[in-house]
Amino acid sequence: MARIIVYTGKGGVGKTSIAAATGLLAAERGYRTVVISTDAAHSLADSFDVPLGPEPTVIRPNLWGQESEVFANITRYWGTIQAYVASVFQWRGLDSVMAEEMSVLPGMDELASLLWIAEHHDKGLYDVIIVDAAPTGETLRLLSLPEAGKWWIEKIYPIGRRISQVTNPIVGRVLGMPMPGDAVYTAGEQLFARLEHMHDLLTNPDLASVRVVLNLEKMVIKEAQRAFTYFHLYGYPTDLVVCNRVLPADTGDYFAAWREQQQRYRPLVEESFAPVPIRAAPFFEQEVVGEAMLRGLGAAVFGDEDPTQIFYRGRPYTVGRAGNGGYALSLELPFTSKEQVRLNRFGDELVVQVGSWRRNLILPRLLLDAPTAGASFEDHTLTIHFDAPHHDEAKAARAR
Ligand SMILES: Nc1ncnc2c1ncn2[C@@H]1O[C@H](COP(=O)(O)OP(=O)(O)O)[C@@H](O)[C@H]1O
Ligand SMILES: [Mg+2]
Repeated sequence: MARIIVYTGKGGVGKTSIAAATGLLAAERGYRTVVISTDAAHSLADSFDVPLGPEPTVIRPNLWGQESEVFANITRYWGTIQAYVASVFQWRGLDSVMAEEMSVLPGMDELASLLWIAEHHDKGLYDVIIVDAAPTGETLRLLSLPEAGKWWIEKIYPIGRRISQVTNPIVGRVLGMPMPGDAVYTAGEQLFARLEHMHDLLTNPDLASVRVVLNLEKMVIKEAQRAFTYFHLYGYPTDLVVCNRVLPADTGDYFAAWREQQQRYRPLVEESFAPVPIRAAPFFEQEVVGEAMLRGLGAAVFGDEDPTQIFYRGRPYTVGRAGNGGYALSLELPFTSKEQVRLNRFGDELVVQVGSWRRNLILPRLLLDAPTAGASFEDHTLTIHFDAPHHDEAKAARAR
């Protein structure tokens, strides 16, 4: 069983640097470690300051690096399906080169890179798999795809296959449209089985952790909050938040305002991600390239601790359906309290305050139109109730 650690965050916050630093520390502790970049804009080789290729390359004892290659991955995992899609586009009159290009459906490339995780895990050559993932939004969407795929394969696929077996020759003859053959269906089934396996690995809290890297800037924090919400929704365990590039106190006048601003955002980070632990790394005086700098960055984040440990277990909050067509968001609180719960909503943000304790959450999209309907407190759990979303009500009214 390999430990899987996925770093995500907005572009430029330091994902690659921190993934590489984690890899170096893990290897030095004796874990056979592979660091794999799935971000199409690779910079892992630059970070380690060594050449890397599409297959794992040895960097030093116990450490491998890999910059997965889009077209190789697609052929590997998607070949048969892609060829079929291309044939349909060509039938629609698209020129063959363009059909070939277009047949790489959005997201296929990054998803194919992620499939490497499952492959490394199953082969058992590594103790630790560290993933330098694409920027947050993308990764999120892709990470949730296996769930959608599973639904598709269970509900639609068997029906589609049966129908096509009956009608295929006829439809094909009449329309001239290329019909998916058995090979395409089989490839599809294998692919979805793989995606489901990958999803099972990534949602297993004993194996996988998603770690959020951020900088103390408004937009970066906001995006990280949103990502955090979706990780919860889809059940991806999050065990650490890394605040990178924190300006130290002695930066001089020029950076004084920057530093002040960073200090102002720090409490928001605590409110947004606690109880998940938050680590910080300073803004170094030079770029983080090569082993010495990576070791310094690793030491700032992890000190002497094992960077592969699971730093936090549990889901700080969950969202579920309630009986009345509404939803309930449950938060675990570190205390029991009879104090007044104050809820404040600004757009998709929900600020929960109990006494001096504050939590700042970004609501999942499905709760955006759902009015808050109070809160209740039991044991250590605060439940916030939401009525049915307005668009549901409108739908119901139309039906009446
Ligand atoms: N703590 C830090 N101090 C100084 N420079 C840093 C720090 N962390 C990252 N960098 C530099 O910032 C740039 C972007 O970092 P990178 O890890 O490539 O971000 P990402 O992968 O999130 O896009 C790189 O040039 C890197 O060397
Ligand atoms: Mg990067």
